[in-house]
Amino acid sequence: MDLADALRRRRMVRNFTGEASPAGSLDRVLASAFRAPSAGNTAGLDLVVLTGPDTERYWATTFTPEGRDGFRWQGLFRAPELVVVVVDPAAYPERYGEPDKAATGLGAGTDRWPVPFWWVDAGMAVENILLAAVAEGLGACFFGLFGHEEAVRRELRVPAGRRLVGTVALGPPAPDEPGRSAGRGRPDHLHWTEWSSLGPDR
Ligand SMILES: Cc1cc2nc3c(=O)[nH]c(=O)nc-3n(C[C@H](O)[C@H](O)[C@H](O)COP(=O)(O)O)c2cc1C
Repeated sequence: MDLADALRRRRMVRNFTGEASPAGSLDRVLASAFRAPSAGNTAGLDLVVLTGPDTERYWATTFTPEGRDGFRWQGLFRAPELVVVVVDPAAYPERYGEPDKAATGLGAGTDRWPVPFWWVDAGMAVENILLAAVAEGLGACFFGLFGHEEAVRRELRVPAGRRLVGTVALGPPAPDEPGRSAGRGRPDHLHWTEWSSLGPDR
């Protein structure tokens, strides 16, 4: 599949057949995350992958039984693989304190970063995963941890200091309906040459 096709086809899939992803496909999708660009090549990204019955540990940590019964996307619980995206903010000032980056002043601490590149790196890695999943014929959905970061950290033994960004559900897709937000359309907020008004609210 070429890139234009993958970009056009990519959408969040929230329903899965429950079958495992073919091992080779899963490996390629996961490897794609580590091919993403990374600020200063800091490479402060880790993925914690839950497969098969282990995915249940994630759901039991993030949902009450009642919350689970009432959840709109029941098919998400069938995702055969869950990939928890983890970043290491402290790695970035450390890297930017090295001689080739010291002039940036960003080595002084995470609070010096006007744009915290650890979140940017995570987004780039997640997009690679989402596009690689399309290329492999798999469904994927990125979703937030909301209030469950610390509980998931404990359950998955993620070290203190790392931040859990969100989770990608992966697997062979089953038919589903688009999410509520997807219907909002996808306007191109493009400004050529300089910022120019694009309409009443832009
Ligand atoms: C940072 C981010 C957080 C998101 N969080 C959730 C989420 O918690 N639950 C969910 O169902 N979808 C989540 N989404 C998916 C968006 O709702 C979806 O990408 C958007 O509606 C466009 O639809 P599409 O990706 O299917 O084209 C998230 C997407 C991004 C980029």
